[in-house]
Amino acid sequence: MEIEIKHELPDSGWQIVAQTLKEVGMAFYEPHVHKKAFENSHTSIFVFHSGRLIGFGRAISDGVYQAAIYDVAVIPEFQGRGIGTIIVKNILSNLPSCNFILYTMPGKEDFYRKLGFRKMKTGMASFRKADNMTLRGFTE
Ligand SMILES: CC(C)(COP(=O)(O)OP(=O)(O)OC[C@H]1O[C@@H](n2cnc3c(N)ncnc32)[C@H](O)[C@@H]1OP(=O)(O)O)[C@@H](O)C(=O)NCCC(=O)NCCS
Repeated sequence: MEIEIKHELPDSGWQIVAQTLKEVGMAFYEPHVHKKAFENSHTSIFVFHSGRLIGFGRAISDGVYQAAIYDVAVIPEFQGRGIGTIIVKNILSNLPSCNFILYTMPGKEDFYRKLGFRKMKTGMASFRKADNMTLRGFTE
């Protein structure tokens, strides 16, 4: 499969980002909100197939020793073809001196385990919608 990796997205792409996140059951906002979040991140990865955006992800980071991965998603028809792996590996290699943390959708842990991630024993989170995150299986 011929794919292209980019670090930027034209304005027309943010609607697809919002739509994709909605479709895969992740938190989604208005397109301009995602644009701001990705543009304020240290590393953004966008994967294109024949000019079409099919997956993306980003990391916030100090650029030196700590980083956190967010918003990794592949459009459903392209899932299971190695695109998610490419996104995460590109993020990791862009910040080679960093530790990485993330929280995954419940049930998606094995995807990250295969990329070398291990479950954290002391992870703590303060979510804005704390009760909702407990209901959705993210927190105790
Ligand atoms: C999770 C996601 C990013 C994975 O991307 P992908 O392109 O489908 O995954 P890949 O094809 O690179 O798979 C890599 C490996 O992880 C495994 N894997 C992929 N999705 C998995 C899942 N949901 N559960 C367990 N293992 C999974 C694959 O079987 C593959 O294993 P293999 O190398 O032994 O064959 C993608 O399916 C997706 O966008 N899902 C919905 C959104 C989501 O849950 N994002 C993660 C947010 S934390």
